[in-house]
Amino acid sequence: MPNQIAGFSKLSKQEKINWIAKEYFSNPSEAISLLKRYWNADEKLQQLHDEFIENTITNFYLPLGIAPNFLINGKQYTIPMAIEESSVVAAASKSAKFWASRGGFKTTVLSTEKIGQVHFIFSGDSSKLDKFFLEIKDKCISATESITKNMQKRGGGILDIELRNKTHLIENYYQLHATFETVDSMGANFINSCLEQFAKTLKEEALLNDAFSEAEKNIQIVMSILSNYVPNCIVRAEVSCRVEELIEKNIPNAQDFAKKFVRAVQIAEVEPFRAVTHNKGIMNGIDAVVLATGNDFRAVEAGIHAYAARNGQYSSLSHAKIENDVFYFWMEIPLALGTVGGLTSLHPLVKFCLEMLEKPNAKELMQIVAVAGLAQNFAALRSLTTTGIQEGHMKMHLNNIINQFEATAEERILITNHFKENVVSHAAVVEFIENLRK
Ligand code: MEV
Repeated sequence: MPNQIAGFSKLSKQEKINWIAKEYFSNPSEAISLLKRYWNADEKLQQLHDEFIENTITNFYLPLGIAPNFLINGKQYTIPMAIEESSVVAAASKSAKFWASRGGFKTTVLSTEKIGQVHFIFSGDSSKLDKFFLEIKDKCISATESITKNMQKRGGGILDIELRNKTHLIENYYQLHATFETVDSMGANFINSCLEQFAKTLKEEALLNDAFSEAEKNIQIVMSILSNYVPNCIVRAEVSCRVEELIEKNIPNAQDFAKKFVRAVQIAEVEPFRAVTHNKGIMNGIDAVVLATGNDFRAVEAGIHAYAARNGQYSSLSHAKIENDVFYFWMEIPLALGTVGGLTSLHPLVKFCLEMLEKPNAKELMQIVAVAGLAQNFAALRSLTTTGIQEGHMKMHLNNIINQFEATAEERILITNHFKENVVSHAAVVEFIENLRK
């Protein structure tokens, strides 16, 4: 077991690496050289990455893939995806192409409101608190002027603040529940700064309020923080076509396919075990684009899953139906994204991705991300309800095994040809390679 270390963060990068290598690795010099192989030769670029977080020792690569041919509201997009899972980019590209020849994806931003809360304890008469809040509400807002000035110039700012009585949940627990418009920024810093100012005003004004008793004057601020649950920041993505237009190679009977597809979605609507995996497939597309565009995928994940459970049971994010011989497939999800601020202007690859998307604003990015999720879901359900998911996965898996064994070009051809006819499993591929090399 390694010794506890004091003052680790004060060590230089090299000292940190030396400590880890010595404490955890049987071959320290090999461990150090692996870390250094991932350093960027461009020292300035490396320093930029070193400074994103604390205690950086190297870079952790993820592939950046590209899914072309997305037609969204009549405009062509090539979508960047940062993801490690094989098949995801291929599936997105396949869906994009499929729907591009059937009218493309349609999207609408339904709302863009963000939320933040000051959680506090008030021990006293709630009707006095109601009156007090109405008296100080304007002051709460005007005290944030220096924070909101720039946001207001961009068309955003504080939308409203409500006092919410939560004493039925926890004794003496209240909230300032505030709503915001943050335009093209995700808004976390802006919202948190406003909230901390609201809390300060609330506390200070309570101390000066003569109508309060001593206990009532002493409001206890528990915390001030944005909510990653944004049920009023919603984007809708949809596709539709006549049922007979669904026909293609793996879909010989469009009627049967459409019905089975709708059934598969219904199952995810009513069965949480299936819903989680169904939505995971949607998140394959969403996270990959969120990450590539420098947004906070943990926030997006948390918010979307909360939304999927908003009716009391975790359920499918997407929906499908057949009406008058038309197949409809759609999804509405909450997405708080930014195209300015944060990593968007710092990370060179994020800048690259945003430029490739033709510098979308936050609303456009919401639409692109939602489409990536719906496309992924369509691809997964199409495979699941026709050939099964393993066919495509195993092709990618085969490639990974071939790479793992560092197959020569000749070996690669022999292996791929053999497994066109034979079932791919890790053991079968390994055995085939070993026999080839005997
Ligand atoms: C795998 O990453 C995602 C799927 O399991 C999604 C689904 O089952 O719908 C294929």
